[in-house]
Amino acid sequence: MLDLMKLCTKSANIITENNIVIAIYPGSFDPITLGHLDLIRRSSRLFERVIVAVLRNPNKRPLFTVEQRLEQIRLSTKHLPNVGVDSFDGLAVEYAQMQQAQVLLRGLRAVSDFEIELQMAHTNKTLSTQIETVFLATSNEYSFLSSSVVKEIARFGGSVDHLVPPHIALDIYQCYNQKSLASNPNATNITLPCESP
Ligand code: PNS
Repeated sequence: MLDLMKLCTKSANIITENNIVIAIYPGSFDPITLGHLDLIRRSSRLFERVIVAVLRNPNKRPLFTVEQRLEQIRLSTKHLPNVGVDSFDGLAVEYAQMQQAQVLLRGLRAVSDFEIELQMAHTNKTLSTQIETVFLATSNEYSFLSSSVVKEIARFGGSVDHLVPPHIALDIYQCYNQKSLASNPNATNITLPCESP
């Protein structure tokens, strides 16, 4: 498998002198899902190193802080020795260059993803011709799954045990539980484990 990727990356001229291909997997990961993790596991067999990079995005109001998401991802990927976890702000291609990576990795769940992802890939290509975007098809069983779906289910009291790792499901339940407590005028001294909406 690694050889096949080598062939593709060689023909795209992105193999470095030391023959190491580093892929950045950028995203919001609020929270990371089993779909993301499936993609990370599969990509860790294709590239020498994969860095999961959480965007510090001041324009979004996430459920979890960046630090909480980094910890959630670290715990979920600790069995994959060539996977690292980091955060970044600014442009993904600039972060990739800073990490001496050659690849931006993105998952495609459905044709609807393709349009926006292709636009992003083309935009990134105008910013750096050195960085290639590589798309991996999401496994069929996760083709419906997104962080938003997970939050939507949990917000209405549904189970997300089949959609995220157990420790993240607990974080989510705790978060929504505390949010509903926080909206209770009789509740006092509540420390929210997640960002307030
Ligand atoms: O998980 P998401 O929210 O779909 O990830 C989107 C992300 C973080 C990959 C994208 O918004 C991004 O790369 N942002 C960094 C800013 C940037 O590089 N913009 C140029 C490409 S449009």
